[in-house]
Amino acid sequence: MEYPKFTQEHKSLMAKYLTKDVFDSLKDKKTVNGFTISDVVNSGVQNPDSGIGAYAGDEESYTTFAPFFDPIIEEYHGFTKNDKHQSDLNPDNLDAKNPDPDNKFIVSTRIRVGRNVDNMPLGPAITKEQRDEIEKVVSTTLSSLEGSLKGKYFPLDGMSKEDQDALIKDHFLFKEGDRFLETAGLNRNWPLGRGIYHNTEKTFLVWVNEEDQLRIISMQQGGDIKEVFTRLTTAIGELEKKMKFSFNEHLGYITSCPTNLGTAMRASVHIAVPKLAADMEKFKAICDKHHLQIRGIHGEHSESEGGVYDISNKRRLGVTEVQCVQDMYDGVVELIKVEKSLA
Ligand code: ADP
Ligand code: ARG
Repeated sequence: MEYPKFTQEHKSLMAKYLTKDVFDSLKDKKTVNGFTISDVVNSGVQNPDSGIGAYAGDEESYTTFAPFFDPIIEEYHGFTKNDKHQSDLNPDNLDAKNPDPDNKFIVSTRIRVGRNVDNMPLGPAITKEQRDEIEKVVSTTLSSLEGSLKGKYFPLDGMSKEDQDALIKDHFLFKEGDRFLETAGLNRNWPLGRGIYHNTEKTFLVWVNEEDQLRIISMQQGGDIKEVFTRLTTAIGELEKKMKFSFNEHLGYITSCPTNLGTAMRASVHIAVPKLAADMEKFKAICDKHHLQIRGIHGEHSESEGGVYDISNKRRLGVTEVQCVQDMYDGVVELIKVEKSLA
Protein backbone atom coordinates (compact mmCIF):
# COMPACT_ATOMS: atom_id res chain seq x y z
CA MET A 1 0.00 0.00 0.00
CA GLU A 2 1.50 3.30 -1.20
CA TYR A 3 1.21 6.76 0.35
CA PRO A 4 -1.11 8.73 -2.02
CA LYS A 5 0.35 11.31 -4.39
CA PHE A 6 -1.15 14.64 -3.34
CA THR A 7 -1.03 17.73 -5.56
CA GLN A 8 -1.62 21.45 -4.92
CA GLU A 9 -5.26 20.76 -5.83
CA HIS A 10 -5.85 18.46 -2.86
CA LYS A 11 -7.32 20.82 -0.27
CA SER A 12 -9.43 18.41 1.80
CA LEU A 13 -9.13 17.73 5.51
CA MET A 14 -8.11 14.22 4.44
CA ALA A 15 -5.07 15.59 2.57
CA LYS A 16 -4.27 17.82 5.55
CA TYR A 17 -4.34 15.04 8.15
CA LEU A 18 -3.10 12.02 6.20
CA THR A 19 0.56 12.76 6.78
CA LYS A 20 3.13 10.16 5.79
CA ASP A 21 3.61 9.27 9.48
CA VAL A 22 -0.11 8.78 10.09
CA PHE A 23 -0.38 6.73 6.91
CA ASP A 24 2.57 4.52 7.88
CA SER A 25 1.11 3.89 11.32
CA LEU A 26 -2.22 2.77 9.80
CA LYS A 27 -1.31 1.09 6.53
CA ASP A 28 -1.20 -2.45 7.91
CA LYS A 29 -4.51 -2.18 9.79
CA LYS A 30 -7.86 -3.57 8.67
CA THR A 31 -11.31 -3.51 10.24
CA VAL A 32 -13.40 -6.69 10.70
CA ASN A 33 -14.93 -5.97 7.30
CA GLY A 34 -11.53 -5.71 5.63
CA PHE A 35 -11.62 -1.91 5.30
CA THR A 36 -8.19 -0.23 5.04
CA ILE A 37 -6.90 3.34 5.25
CA SER A 38 -6.62 3.34 1.42
CA ASP A 39 -10.32 2.54 1.18
CA VAL A 40 -11.08 5.33 3.68
CA VAL A 41 -9.27 8.03 1.70
CA ASN A 42 -9.88 6.90 -1.89
CA SER A 43 -12.73 9.36 -2.56
CA GLY A 44 -10.61 12.34 -1.49
CA VAL A 45 -7.55 11.12 -3.35
CA GLN A 46 -9.54 10.66 -6.60
CA ASN A 47 -11.49 13.91 -6.12
CA PRO A 48 -8.96 16.60 -5.25
CA ASP A 49 -11.75 19.17 -4.83
CA SER A 50 -13.23 17.24 -1.86
CA GLY A 51 -13.76 19.25 1.29
CA ILE A 52 -13.44 16.27 3.62
CA GLY A 53 -12.45 13.35 1.40
CA ALA A 54 -12.91 10.38 3.77
CA TYR A 55 -15.56 7.71 4.39
CA ALA A 56 -15.76 4.99 7.05
CA GLY A 57 -16.52 1.40 6.03
CA ASP A 58 -17.92 0.51 9.42
CA GLU A 59 -18.18 1.81 12.97
CA GLU A 60 -14.82 0.21 13.72
CA SER A 61 -13.13 2.42 11.08
CA TYR A 62 -13.51 5.35 13.48
CA THR A 63 -11.47 3.53 16.17
CA THR A 64 -9.05 1.55 13.99
CA PHE A 65 -8.13 4.72 12.07
CA ALA A 66 -8.68 7.14 14.98
CA PRO A 67 -5.32 8.94 14.55
CA PHE A 68 -6.60 9.95 11.11
CA PHE A 69 -10.33 10.52 11.85
CA ASP A 70 -10.06 12.27 15.26
CA PRO A 71 -8.42 15.48 13.99
CA ILE A 72 -10.84 15.66 11.05
CA ILE A 73 -13.80 15.28 13.40
CA GLU A 74 -12.30 17.89 15.72
CA GLU A 75 -11.75 20.42 12.95
CA TYR A 76 -15.17 19.92 11.31
CA HIS A 77 -17.36 19.67 14.42
CA GLY A 78 -15.16 21.27 17.10
CA PHE A 79 -15.55 17.99 19.01
CA THR A 80 -12.59 16.32 20.68
CA LYS A 81 -11.91 12.65 21.27
CA ASN A 82 -12.83 13.00 24.96
CA ASP A 83 -16.20 14.67 24.34
CA LYS A 84 -19.52 12.88 24.68
CA HIS A 85 -22.38 13.34 22.25
CA GLN A 86 -25.87 14.28 23.45
CA SER A 87 -29.24 13.80 21.83
CA ASP A 88 -32.47 15.81 22.17
CA LEU A 89 -35.27 14.98 19.79
CA ASN A 90 -38.00 16.68 21.80
CA PRO A 91 -39.79 19.32 19.66
CA ASP A 92 -41.08 21.02 22.85
CA ASN A 93 -37.53 22.23 23.41
CA LEU A 94 -37.37 24.00 20.06
CA ASP A 95 -38.18 27.70 19.93
CA ALA A 96 -39.06 28.21 16.29
CA LYS A 97 -42.15 30.15 15.40
CA ASN A 98 -42.51 30.39 11.60
CA PRO A 99 -40.07 33.21 10.71
CA ASP A 100 -41.84 33.88 7.41
CA PRO A 101 -45.62 33.45 7.82
CA ASP A 102 -46.30 35.41 4.60
CA ASN A 103 -44.12 33.07 2.53
CA LYS A 104 -41.98 35.85 1.13
CA PHE A 105 -38.54 34.32 1.66
CA ILE A 106 -38.70 30.65 2.64
CA VAL A 107 -39.67 28.41 -0.25
CA SER A 108 -39.47 25.13 1.65
CA THR A 109 -38.08 23.46 4.76
CA ARG A 110 -36.44 20.04 4.96
CA ILE A 111 -34.85 18.19 7.86
CA ARG A 112 -33.14 14.86 7.40
CA VAL A 113 -31.17 12.45 9.53
CA GLY A 114 -28.89 9.65 8.43
CA ARG A 115 -29.16 6.24 10.06
CA ASN A 116 -27.38 2.93 9.60
CA VAL A 117 -28.42 -0.48 10.80
CA ASP A 118 -26.71 -1.76 13.94
CA ASN A 119 -24.21 -4.58 13.42
CA MET A 120 -23.92 -4.11 9.68
CA PRO A 121 -21.01 -2.62 7.75
CA LEU A 122 -21.62 0.89 6.41
CA GLY A 123 -22.27 1.36 2.68
CA PRO A 124 -18.63 1.60 1.55
CA ALA A 125 -17.84 -1.89 2.92
CA ILE A 126 -21.18 -3.63 2.62
CA THR A 127 -21.72 -6.71 0.43
CA LYS A 128 -24.50 -6.88 -2.13
CA GLU A 129 -26.30 -9.51 -0.03
CA GLN A 130 -26.14 -7.37 3.11
CA ARG A 131 -27.38 -4.31 1.21
CA ASP A 132 -30.28 -6.27 -0.27
CA GLU A 133 -31.12 -7.60 3.18
CA ILE A 134 -31.25 -4.06 4.56
CA GLU A 135 -33.52 -2.96 1.73
CA LYS A 136 -35.86 -5.82 2.60
CA VAL A 137 -35.91 -5.12 6.34
CA VAL A 138 -36.26 -1.34 5.96
CA SER A 139 -38.98 -1.45 3.30
CA THR A 140 -40.95 -4.00 5.34
CA THR A 141 -40.62 -1.89 8.48
CA LEU A 142 -41.70 1.24 6.60
CA SER A 143 -44.74 -0.53 5.19
CA SER A 144 -46.02 -1.02 8.74
CA LEU A 145 -46.24 2.74 9.40
CA GLU A 146 -49.70 4.18 9.90
CA GLY A 147 -51.51 7.51 9.73
CA SER A 148 -49.79 10.45 8.05
CA LEU A 149 -46.54 8.49 7.76
CA LYS A 150 -48.20 5.73 5.75
CA GLY A 151 -46.78 5.42 2.25
CA LYS A 152 -45.17 3.22 -0.34
CA TYR A 153 -41.68 2.00 -1.14
CA PHE A 154 -40.40 2.50 -4.71
CA PRO A 155 -37.26 0.53 -5.63
CA LEU A 156 -34.90 2.39 -7.97
CA ASP A 157 -34.50 -0.75 -10.04
CA GLY A 158 -37.42 -0.70 -12.43
CA MET A 159 -38.30 2.97 -11.89
CA SER A 160 -38.72 4.77 -15.23
CA LYS A 161 -36.19 7.43 -16.17
CA GLU A 162 -39.00 10.04 -16.28
CA ASP A 163 -40.23 9.20 -12.77
CA GLN A 164 -36.68 9.22 -11.43
CA ASP A 165 -35.84 12.57 -13.07
CA ALA A 166 -39.08 14.16 -11.87
CA LEU A 167 -38.44 13.05 -8.27
CA ILE A 168 -34.89 14.44 -8.44
CA LYS A 169 -36.00 17.73 -10.00
CA ASP A 170 -38.65 18.21 -7.30
CA HIS A 171 -36.00 17.67 -4.57
CA PHE A 172 -37.39 14.36 -3.32
CA LEU A 173 -34.88 11.80 -4.60
CA PHE A 174 -31.08 11.49 -4.50
CA LYS A 175 -29.07 12.04 -7.68
CA GLU A 176 -27.36 9.30 -9.60
CA GLY A 177 -23.64 8.97 -10.33
CA ASP A 178 -22.18 11.19 -7.60
CA ARG A 179 -18.40 10.96 -8.13
CA PHE A 180 -17.62 11.34 -4.41
CA LEU A 181 -19.86 8.39 -3.54
CA GLU A 182 -18.66 6.42 -6.57
CA THR A 183 -15.01 6.51 -5.45
CA ALA A 184 -16.04 5.79 -1.85
CA GLY A 185 -17.47 2.46 -3.06
CA LEU A 186 -20.99 3.62 -2.27
CA ASN A 187 -22.43 3.15 -5.77
CA ARG A 188 -21.55 -0.55 -6.20
CA ASN A 189 -24.34 -2.66 -7.77
CA TRP A 190 -26.34 0.50 -8.55
CA PRO A 191 -29.39 0.67 -8.74
CA LEU A 192 -29.96 -2.61 -6.90
CA GLY A 193 -30.90 -2.37 -3.25
CA ARG A 194 -31.71 1.36 -3.49
CA GLY A 195 -35.06 3.06 -3.35
CA ILE A 196 -37.31 5.68 -1.86
CA TYR A 197 -40.30 5.48 0.46
CA HIS A 198 -42.74 8.34 0.74
CA ASN A 199 -46.18 9.19 2.06
CA THR A 200 -48.82 10.48 -0.37
CA GLU A 201 -48.10 14.17 0.30
CA LYS A 202 -44.33 13.58 -0.01
CA THR A 203 -43.77 15.27 3.35
CA PHE A 204 -42.21 12.16 4.88
CA LEU A 205 -39.60 10.28 2.86
CA VAL A 206 -36.90 7.70 3.43
CA TRP A 207 -33.98 7.14 1.07
CA VAL A 208 -32.72 3.57 1.25
CA ASN A 209 -29.06 2.64 0.71
CA GLU A 210 -27.73 5.88 -0.67
CA GLU A 211 -24.81 7.41 1.27
CA ASP A 212 -26.32 6.02 4.46
CA GLN A 213 -28.64 3.05 4.74
CA LEU A 214 -31.49 5.33 5.73
CA ARG A 215 -31.95 9.03 5.21
CA ILE A 216 -35.13 9.87 7.08
CA ILE A 217 -36.59 13.08 5.70
CA SER A 218 -39.40 15.46 6.65
CA MET A 219 -40.12 18.34 4.27
CA GLN A 220 -42.84 20.72 3.16
CA GLN A 221 -43.40 24.06 1.47
CA GLY A 222 -42.97 27.22 3.56
CA GLY A 223 -41.23 27.95 6.85
CA ASP A 224 -43.00 26.00 9.57
CA ILE A 225 -39.74 24.55 10.84
CA LYS A 226 -41.25 23.20 14.04
CA GLU A 227 -43.90 21.22 12.19
CA VAL A 228 -41.22 19.68 9.99
CA PHE A 229 -39.09 18.79 13.03
CA THR A 230 -42.07 17.34 14.89
CA ARG A 231 -42.99 15.06 11.97
CA LEU A 232 -39.39 13.89 11.70
CA THR A 233 -38.99 13.10 15.39
CA THR A 234 -42.29 11.21 15.43
CA ALA A 235 -41.13 9.12 12.47
CA ILE A 236 -37.74 8.42 14.04
CA GLY A 237 -39.52 7.30 17.23
CA GLU A 238 -41.76 4.92 15.28
CA LEU A 239 -38.82 3.40 13.38
CA GLU A 240 -36.74 3.02 16.54
CA LYS A 241 -39.49 0.86 18.02
CA LYS A 242 -38.84 -1.63 15.23
CA MET A 243 -35.17 -1.28 14.30
CA LYS A 244 -31.86 -0.72 16.07
CA PHE A 245 -29.57 1.88 14.54
CA SER A 246 -25.80 2.10 14.86
CA PHE A 247 -25.03 4.48 17.73
CA ASN A 248 -22.32 4.99 20.32
CA GLU A 249 -21.95 7.32 23.30
CA HIS A 250 -18.95 9.14 21.86
CA LEU A 251 -19.88 9.64 18.20
CA GLY A 252 -23.68 9.45 18.40
CA TYR A 253 -25.30 8.01 15.28
CA ILE A 254 -22.69 6.37 13.08
CA THR A 255 -22.57 7.49 9.44
CA SER A 256 -20.24 6.78 6.54
CA CYS A 257 -19.11 10.41 6.21
CA PRO A 258 -17.56 11.99 9.32
CA THR A 259 -19.46 15.24 8.68
CA ASN A 260 -22.73 13.48 9.49
CA LEU A 261 -21.76 11.84 12.80
CA GLY A 262 -23.65 12.64 15.99
CA THR A 263 -27.13 13.83 15.14
CA ALA A 264 -26.62 13.01 11.42
CA MET A 265 -29.03 15.88 10.98
CA ARG A 266 -29.17 18.51 8.27
CA ALA A 267 -31.95 21.04 8.74
CA SER A 268 -32.36 23.35 5.77
CA VAL A 269 -34.53 25.94 4.15
CA HIS A 270 -34.61 27.01 0.55
CA ILE A 271 -34.59 30.75 1.01
CA ALA A 272 -34.71 33.68 -1.41
CA VAL A 273 -32.16 36.31 -0.40
CA PRO A 274 -31.13 37.83 -3.77
CA LYS A 275 -30.19 41.25 -2.37
CA LEU A 276 -28.03 39.93 0.42
CA ALA A 277 -26.45 37.36 -1.90
CA ALA A 278 -25.23 40.20 -4.11
CA ASP A 279 -22.76 40.78 -1.26
CA MET A 280 -21.40 37.26 -0.85
CA GLU A 281 -18.96 38.24 1.85
CA LYS A 282 -21.69 39.64 4.07
CA PHE A 283 -23.97 36.67 3.34
CA LYS A 284 -21.22 34.22 4.28
CA ALA A 285 -20.33 36.16 7.44
CA ILE A 286 -23.90 35.88 8.75
CA CYS A 287 -23.97 32.17 7.92
CA ASP A 288 -20.61 31.57 9.62
CA LYS A 289 -21.80 33.36 12.75
CA HIS A 290 -24.71 30.92 13.04
CA HIS A 291 -22.67 27.85 11.99
CA LEU A 292 -24.55 27.55 8.72
CA GLN A 293 -23.60 26.15 5.37
CA ILE A 294 -24.70 27.53 1.99
CA ARG A 295 -25.60 25.10 -0.80
CA GLY A 296 -27.28 25.50 -4.20
CA ILE A 297 -30.88 24.42 -4.67
CA HIS A 298 -30.22 21.06 -6.27
CA GLY A 299 -28.32 19.84 -3.25
CA GLU A 300 -24.68 19.54 -2.43
CA HIS A 301 -22.23 20.72 -5.11
CA SER A 302 -25.05 22.51 -7.03
CA GLU A 303 -25.61 26.20 -7.78
CA SER A 304 -28.17 28.76 -6.62
CA GLU A 305 -31.00 29.72 -8.95
CA GLY A 306 -32.71 33.11 -8.85
CA GLY A 307 -31.13 34.09 -5.54
CA VAL A 308 -32.55 31.02 -3.75
CA TYR A 309 -30.10 29.15 -1.54
CA ASP A 310 -30.13 26.05 0.63
CA ILE A 311 -29.12 27.14 4.14
CA SER A 312 -28.45 24.46 6.75
CA ASN A 313 -26.71 23.72 10.03
CA LYS A 314 -23.06 22.75 9.67
CA ARG A 315 -22.48 21.29 13.14
CA ARG A 316 -23.99 17.86 13.77
CA LEU A 317 -21.84 16.28 16.48
CA GLY A 318 -21.56 17.49 20.09
CA VAL A 319 -24.76 19.50 19.63
CA THR A 320 -28.26 18.09 20.06
CA GLU A 321 -30.82 17.77 17.28
CA VAL A 322 -32.76 20.66 18.83
CA GLN A 323 -29.60 22.80 18.69
CA CYS A 324 -28.99 21.86 15.03
CA VAL A 325 -32.43 23.14 14.11
CA GLN A 326 -32.05 26.15 16.43
CA ASP A 327 -28.78 27.10 14.65
CA MET A 328 -30.61 27.06 11.34
CA TYR A 329 -33.64 28.88 12.72
CA ASP A 330 -31.66 31.68 14.38
CA GLY A 331 -29.59 32.20 11.24
CA VAL A 332 -32.66 32.28 9.03
CA VAL A 333 -34.29 34.91 11.25
CA GLU A 334 -31.23 37.12 10.81
CA LEU A 335 -30.99 36.49 7.06
CA ILE A 336 -34.63 37.56 6.61
CA LYS A 337 -34.09 40.66 8.74
CA VAL A 338 -31.07 41.73 6.69
CA GLU A 339 -32.74 40.94 3.35
CA LYS A 340 -35.75 43.07 4.41
CA SER A 341 -33.47 45.96 5.39
CA LEU A 342 -31.97 45.93 1.88
CA ALA A 343 -35.36 46.21 0.19
P1 ADP B 1 -28.61 15.80 1.96
O1 ADP B 1 -29.39 16.89 2.56
O2 ADP B 1 -29.42 14.58 2.01
O3 ADP B 1 -27.29 15.72 2.59
P2 ADP B 1 -28.38 17.18 -0.65
O4 ADP B 1 -27.73 18.45 -0.24
O5 ADP B 1 -27.84 16.54 -1.89
O6 ADP B 1 -28.30 16.03 0.42
O7 ADP B 1 -29.93 17.44 -0.83
C1 ADP B 1 -30.78 16.41 -1.22
C2 ADP B 1 -32.01 16.93 -1.90
O8 ADP B 1 -32.81 17.64 -0.99
C3 ADP B 1 -31.71 17.90 -3.05
O9 ADP B 1 -32.61 17.66 -4.09
C4 ADP B 1 -32.00 19.23 -2.44
O10 ADP B 1 -32.37 20.21 -3.39
C5 ADP B 1 -33.16 18.90 -1.54
N1 ADP B 1 -33.34 19.86 -0.46
C6 ADP B 1 -32.50 20.17 0.53
N2 ADP B 1 -33.00 21.12 1.33
C7 ADP B 1 -34.23 21.40 0.85
C8 ADP B 1 -35.26 22.31 1.24
N3 ADP B 1 -35.16 23.08 2.32
N4 ADP B 1 -36.39 22.33 0.47
C9 ADP B 1 -36.53 21.54 -0.60
N5 ADP B 1 -35.59 20.68 -1.02
C10 ADP B 1 -34.46 20.61 -0.31
N1 ARG C 1 -16.84 13.66 0.27
C1 ARG C 1 -17.35 14.92 -0.13
C2 ARG C 1 -16.29 15.98 0.15
O1 ARG C 1 -15.39 15.69 0.88
C3 ARG C 1 -18.64 15.28 0.58
C4 ARG C 1 -18.51 15.54 2.06
C5 ARG C 1 -19.74 15.98 2.80
N2 ARG C 1 -20.95 15.60 2.16
C6 ARG C 1 -21.52 14.42 2.22
N3 ARG C 1 -22.56 14.20 1.46
N4 ARG C 1 -21.13 13.50 3.05
O2 ARG C 1 -16.38 17.08 -0.35
